[in-house]
Amino acid sequence: MLIRHRPDLTDNDVTDRGLYLRRREFITGVAGLGLAGLGGMASAAPLAFSKGFSTTEKPTPKDDVTSYNNFYEFGVDKGDPAENAGRLKTRPWTVRVDGACEAPKTFDIDALIKANKLEERIYRLRCVEGWSMVIPWVGFPLKDLIAAVKPTSKAKFVAFETLMRPSEMTGQKWDVLQWPYREGLRIDEAVHPLTLIAVGLYGETLPNQNGAPLRLVVPWKYGFKSIKSIIRISLVERQPPTAWNLSAPREYGFYSNVNPAVDHPRWSQATERRIGEFRRRDTLAFNGYGEWVADLYRGMDLKKFY
Ligand code: MTE
Repeated sequence: MLIRHRPDLTDNDVTDRGLYLRRREFITGVAGLGLAGLGGMASAAPLAFSKGFSTTEKPTPKDDVTSYNNFYEFGVDKGDPAENAGRLKTRPWTVRVDGACEAPKTFDIDALIKANKLEERIYRLRCVEGWSMVIPWVGFPLKDLIAAVKPTSKAKFVAFETLMRPSEMTGQKWDVLQWPYREGLRIDEAVHPLTLIAVGLYGETLPNQNGAPLRLVVPWKYGFKSIKSIIRISLVERQPPTAWNLSAPREYGFYSNVNPAVDHPRWSQATERRIGEFRRRDTLAFNGYGEWVADLYRGMDLKKFY
């Protein structure tokens, strides 16, 4: 990234993989944070595993997923988030969902986790910097949360905002980006069944450095669209401003679909380095999710709308 100052899935597609990932284990992780009141979830019922959307590629080792991160609120080096994000208090935590909807609501994170059917999705993540990982997320489709607030016909885009708390997110004391970190999606992208709100990975509560307690995951877009530690989701009529686009509009567009045919002005996007691998591999259009999402962009010039 730029551093300016260094200083339609149906239930039939969902199947169980009980031994690998148990809801109880996930909840144990949550309980480990000192949380009570999740008794209703603490059954041995396995998490649903989305066979249809999950890749069968080998997941990137958990140690890499949790130690090689981009989370500028905690520093600009890849190891900074793992070192510094521990000081972020993720409870109590609420997410305000508002804007063009009939039933705006402030959700408590634990109530949200309890109310939604959690499932595992193993997705590729391709960073705009040219590296990639395969991550087993735990979460629920964003479309379920959006449906809960009853969007109106004026909801054309969705704006997301990260917490602003410089006392814990010490990177916010530097003007590397215009804080708080913001992202956005078109409404049809937001309600696409691939688009996930993640609350865990590798069957456990989401580590702080990966965006606890909840983050977005949009697997066909560059990783910076997948905003971490969200406190607000607003349904809006116009395309919202986004952090990296504000910072360097020629380098980071609103759409940011993974596209090997459109280079970043300062480097090629044709190949990527999968963390843990030596040789670079070809980058796939829409990060390999084209069969599900290419239709969203029919008729659009993706060189113009990068
Ligand atoms: N969200 C916030 N709030 N701040 C950030 O700096 N970095 C983004 C994205 N979400 C970022 C963020 C970038 S550039 C990437 S590649 C992914 O998070 C990295 O997610 P990971 O660290 O879980 O792999």
